[in-house]
Amino acid sequence: MMQEPSPKYRPFSPVGLFDRQWPNRVVGKPPIWMSTDLRDGNQALFEPMNADRKMRMFKMLCQIAFKEIEVGFPSASETDFNFVRTLIDAKHIPADVTIEVLTQAREHLIHRTMESIKGARRAIVHIYNATSKPFRDIVFGMSKTEVVAMAVDAVKLAKELAAELPETEIVLEYSPETFTATELDFSLEVCNAVTSAWGATPQRKVIINLPSTVEVATPNIYADQIEWMHRHLDRRDSIILSLHPHNDRGTAVAAAEVGLMAGADRLEGCIFGNGERTGNVDIVTVALNMYTQGIHPGLDFSDINAVARTVEYCTQLPIHPRHPYVGDLVFTAFSGSHQDAIKKGFAAQKAGEPWNVPYLPIDPTDVGRSYDSVIRVNSQSGKGGVAYLLETEYGIVMPRRLQVEFSGVVQKYADVQGGEVTAADLWRLFSATYLETQEPVHYREHHLFENAKVQAIRLAVDIDGIPHVLKGEGNGPIDAAVHALRGAGIDVQVRSYEERSMAASIDGGDAKACAFMEIVIRGREFYGVGIDDNIVTASLKAIVSGLNRDTSAYTERVAMQLSA
Ligand code: KIV
Ligand code: ZN
Repeated sequence: MMQEPSPKYRPFSPVGLFDRQWPNRVVGKPPIWMSTDLRDGNQALFEPMNADRKMRMFKMLCQIAFKEIEVGFPSASETDFNFVRTLIDAKHIPADVTIEVLTQAREHLIHRTMESIKGARRAIVHIYNATSKPFRDIVFGMSKTEVVAMAVDAVKLAKELAAELPETEIVLEYSPETFTATELDFSLEVCNAVTSAWGATPQRKVIINLPSTVEVATPNIYADQIEWMHRHLDRRDSIILSLHPHNDRGTAVAAAEVGLMAGADRLEGCIFGNGERTGNVDIVTVALNMYTQGIHPGLDFSDINAVARTVEYCTQLPIHPRHPYVGDLVFTAFSGSHQDAIKKGFAAQKAGEPWNVPYLPIDPTDVGRSYDSVIRVNSQSGKGGVAYLLETEYGIVMPRRLQVEFSGVVQKYADVQGGEVTAADLWRLFSATYLETQEPVHYREHHLFENAKVQAIRLAVDIDGIPHVLKGEGNGPIDAAVHALRGAGIDVQVRSYEERSMAASIDGGDAKACAFMEIVIRGREFYGVGIDDNIVTASLKAIVSGLNRDTSAYTERVAMQLSA
């Protein structure tokens, strides 16, 4: 049993911002995105990225169109230092991309950090120190004054060293680490001191980054904290206000979204939410959430699978199949009612109209995914998915009642087989059920002629292996064939008939006719299907197909044969 929580855990105190504005706002434009995959993401890996993996990640981030990329913690790791040097010396940094490097607010680390960025066109130097009471009291044993002094001294040193690198435009970023657990007025005091020490102006802005280093409360509290800072910070016009949510409570995306509503200008995170513990905020989800609200995020995820494979290679971590927008299963419906609604949605969706397909918040093709994987069939699937796959893959547009009948065949097959039924399986099952049936009746050929202005037919069939030529008359070829069969003692009626042309035939030949015949025999209804170049032949084959389905054990037999 888990312990009673009350004495052990305490609820987080609200901010008390009663005139908060953020709930009435929407995010109307994308923030400045900053990828920390190569720093926060990298430091959380079982096996940190080697030089090759880092370079692959950096190039991919540039392709996605990140303009700010935190490339490492060069004073803490030789690999990171060398990587930053390679980026600069080998001129891998595109002209519109700014690299960022992290350092603790300590003198020797700041020296080494500034050394790492020598020669860069532009760089963000990201200085941090922890500000919350537990860190002040337990981890560092520092007073508030000492914590402020530590930040200010570090910033002054960075400013001095920046003056020695005139060829590099240096932007300062400061993070009060553990911001969400820090008294707000104290966070404000430290940030104001830093902004002033740097001498931030509207032309030379400082980035003030407010991390939820550990996510400790609901997203609305983070939003209140951000709005409070946004309203109280000195020189707000000289500050780029940045968010850095982690995902300990699983609400980092929501925290980022409300944080942006609360006045932030910039967001730091990782692709697919890699990062310390439960991860940094997933930038892809935030960006594509925006995209589905009609705001282009300015990042390119039009080939999300390529991004996924690169991230998996670099991090050596798999992506969950249900991860928003990218997981292998997120554009797939197995359940019948979902499939049915999606199929209808696709059919109703018009090019250029707002996206309105049920169960799909985004058009899969916008992220380079295909419709093919949207509808998949297993034992829980209904007629919609089966019909959709046969239509899109094989050009078979089944009448509704045939869909119901055939989905029963598929269900039995899936129960025996277990797992997924592919489009190819469906086609084999459909062919075996309706098209390849030769017993007890086998269609051979027919001849149509007129007998005193009445349609007549000579129909050659084998019945139980014995050849017969049956003759009949009627008001059309189908009626004549029915009478011919009745003459041979097969009491068949046609209940409904539909005929469709298949755009391109399955074997790649010319378009064919597909006939669907619902027949009644011995009081029971069966569907038959016939495919042929000739429409009358297709119809006669469909009648014969229906006759051959009149064996009660038929469905089970086909299912067992196919799964054997
Ligand atoms: O989560 C955090 O607080 C950090 C800081 C270094 C910004 O990663
Ligand atoms: Zn972090």
